[in-house]
Amino acid sequence: MNLDSGLMLAYLVASILFILGLKGLTHPKTAVRGNLLGAAGMLVASVAVLFDKGIVDFQGIIIGLVIGGLIGGISAIKVEMTSMPEFVALFNGSGGLASVFVAGAGLGILPAMVGSEYAQSTVATGASGLIGSVTFTGSMVAFLKLAEKISGGTISFPGHKPFNVLLALVSVGLCAYLFVSPEPQVYWALIGVAALLGVLLVLPIGGADMPVVIALLNSYSGLAAAATGFVIGNNVLIIAGSLVGASGLVLTAIMCKAMNRSLTDVLFGLAQALQVGEEDDIYTGRVKATSGDEVAMILETAQKVVVVPGYGLAVAQAQHVIREVAEELEARGIEVLYGIHPVAGRMPGHMNVLLAEANVPYEQLLEMDLINPQFSQTDVVIVVGANDVVNPAARTDPESPIAGMPILDVDKARTVVVIKRSLSPGFAGIQNPLFAMDNTLMFFGDGKKAVQEILEGLKEL
Ligand code: TAP
Repeated sequence: MNLDSGLMLAYLVASILFILGLKGLTHPKTAVRGNLLGAAGMLVASVAVLFDKGIVDFQGIIIGLVIGGLIGGISAIKVEMTSMPEFVALFNGSGGLASVFVAGAGLGILPAMVGSEYAQSTVATGASGLIGSVTFTGSMVAFLKLAEKISGGTISFPGHKPFNVLLALVSVGLCAYLFVSPEPQVYWALIGVAALLGVLLVLPIGGADMPVVIALLNSYSGLAAAATGFVIGNNVLIIAGSLVGASGLVLTAIMCKAMNRSLTDVLFGLAQALQVGEEDDIYTGRVKATSGDEVAMILETAQKVVVVPGYGLAVAQAQHVIREVAEELEARGIEVLYGIHPVAGRMPGHMNVLLAEANVPYEQLLEMDLINPQFSQTDVVIVVGANDVVNPAARTDPESPIAGMPILDVDKARTVVVIKRSLSPGFAGIQNPLFAMDNTLMFFGDGKKAVQEILEGLKEL
């Protein structure tokens, strides 16, 4: 076997491992194995590419590997689980920037090409630069918003959307011009316009729409990498990039469904931005506070209890103690289920990961469509650190910024216990009428401490 066929075989093995890895990630039980398969595929691809005859300078590669590996390794160890979305935004942005530079580095060889080879490479260079640049700056804005370095709300100006359309048209025009004149100045002008477009696409998106944007930018980074694969003629990059692009798009579609947003609006940056206005005080005189002992007594008389986790469960790290409460209830013959909203927390699957870490049986975790019809027959719902995903305003108030977003209908249960530290809003920055409802009891405190008090109350009964 010669070097080229060896490389092709290694790329094929890597691609198969990527696909098997993605398949594994579709179920919690196989997710860890899926992750390992994907990582193994990446190792095979990375080692194989080092044997490519196009590689002339190992010194630069090794320096890059050491610096990149150190930055990646240290930040992955240090990052808090709750800061994952910002981290993912940075990763997406780095992917986009890498595509911009790799495609830019290939500019020098374009004039020597002819025919279909020239056509493929220039189109791919333009696509890689355009998508990579939008991904880079869009991800940086998403990072700054998620890390609360800039306002997480809507930032826009009059004529914002038409200006975005104009920038998009200029970018496509520059891609076409690159075909006629593959000069560095045309390419870098394209990068500049696309960079501005990336900033302006993400700036107006705020509040609860951010998960959709992160998923979309993830998909864009994959598409940019696939285009770069065409630029440098690397099959495994084309396949891996397409897989990221396609799976990111599927995730975006799932997020759009969960947020009741149109995929085309999000794709073209036209999503209706959330407008958070001045609100009346809906809480004073209507909120009822409760305690661990009282909740324990209510739980003891229940037959069916549903736990609804949210971002606050992750902050408080209350997943282990809530499982202990569930076990205590099950020992008394009470049925316990968990209601999982697709965008609860701060990243896709956030609640599933936390509850799996606490060994909560998968079969007790029910997605929104399955758990919603059950709330009207539920005696007690314990909401631990969730807010936006249980806000009935989405269903009842057409003026609400989250109007139409499917939520977990916890308010339909006989009693709702909401555990959080205050009446502060969640990610979307809006009030929640659930807290003032007749059947709601507010248990104010840190999620872990509050659930511990319920557990102690139950043990004492
Ligand atoms: P949120 O609406 O963000 O509410 C979380 C609540 O947790 C807050 O109101 C906070 O209230 C409470 N909390 C924080 N720390 C706590 C602690 N130590 N103990 C107890 N409670 C604590 O969360 P959610 O209902 O999970 O909804 C998720 C939101 O994030 C959605 O708007 C979603 O669009 C957005 N988002 C989701 C993702 C993904 S992909 N999942 C990514 C980015 C954004 P207190 O301060 O009063 O305690």
